[in-house]
Amino acid sequence: MKALVLAGGTGTRLRPFSHSMPKQLIPIANKPVLEHVLSGIKDLGVTEIGLIVGDREPDIVDALGDGAGLGLSLTYLRQDAPRGLAHAVQVARGFLGDDDFVMYLGDNMLPDGVVEAAEQFRTHRPAAQVVVQKVADPRAFGVAELDADGRVTRLVEKPQEPRSDLAMIGVYFFTSAVHEAVDSIEPSARGELEITDAVQWLVARGSEVRATEYTGYWKDTGRVEDVLDCNRQLLDQLVRSVDGEVDEESVLIGPVSVAPGARIVRSFIEGPAVIGPGSVIEDSNVGPHTSIGGDVTLSSTHISYSIALDGASVSGVHAVHGSVIGRSAAVSSGDLVTRRHRLVVGDHTRIEVAA
Ligand code: G1P
Repeated sequence: MKALVLAGGTGTRLRPFSHSMPKQLIPIANKPVLEHVLSGIKDLGVTEIGLIVGDREPDIVDALGDGAGLGLSLTYLRQDAPRGLAHAVQVARGFLGDDDFVMYLGDNMLPDGVVEAAEQFRTHRPAAQVVVQKVADPRAFGVAELDADGRVTRLVEKPQEPRSDLAMIGVYFFTSAVHEAVDSIEPSARGELEITDAVQWLVARGSEVRATEYTGYWKDTGRVEDVLDCNRQLLDQLVRSVDGEVDEESVLIGPVSVAPGARIVRSFIEGPAVIGPGSVIEDSNVGPHTSIGGDVTLSSTHISYSIALDGASVSGVHAVHGSVIGRSAAVSSGDLVTRRHRLVVGDHTRIEVAA
């Protein structure tokens, strides 16, 4: 089995970060979303992966290279514009050949993994196996109707009046039967070739399509709030590991990870929290549920439920909460600021907070 990962989307809901980096590279618990996705695929025993990329291809190549560092073989497949998930399958036709494959959206996090769905697919080999979850408002998703045996009887993309609460959550298993389907459908109202329509085409032709319900945590990391919530969820699994330097005046409580080369000076870190390599934390309070990337500087700062990306610096701001501070961004204050701040700061931005 091969994998096809979609990382071509532009991520407009993740502005300002999507201006300077592909949304699939936003770090969650100090690892890019896309790396979490790839390791979920590796857990299925799949190592040959095609990555659909758009204009941001160079950033993704920079971050992942040929995949050898992750024990994977990556092939980059360029999609000229976001023309839909089924169009991505067409783009990947040569790479996929007639092999079975799992298609995975590169910004969807399913930390509990999809091993069960993969096993069901490998056992029954239906034309398609979709992964679904019950959601409160199915109108924003592709929606699946099932019979009592878990067979899909109908699929509709973003129905106004959903007939089921089972949404497709970004992971699909296919045999080569899908290729005729993606070539047979027409673009939807939003002008895209929808994978939901391709799978519905298979259902309508009498092909077997099955669904697996995933009941674990799932998040489409489309917005800053989603990224922070996902970070919280992943940090809740953190195991304490302290490799960096921690001085005698600092206190670490609970699951805290301090990477080699990081320094904690006169600071209080409340887990779960992760501190990346080369970061210096001085006279600060960090956590809980906070990820500090590599080479970050924090001084006289209190930061909780937040993410600071590589090279960011924050000084003299107490009560930074629910914030994402971009790469090499600098947040500072002349006087100590104690009022709570929620900051969403793009890469290379400089912000001064007034007392
Ligand atoms: C896409 C699919 C939809 C699926 C969703 C999962 O929607 O078209 O069927 O439920 O991903 O995140 P989009 O994010 O393109 O609106």
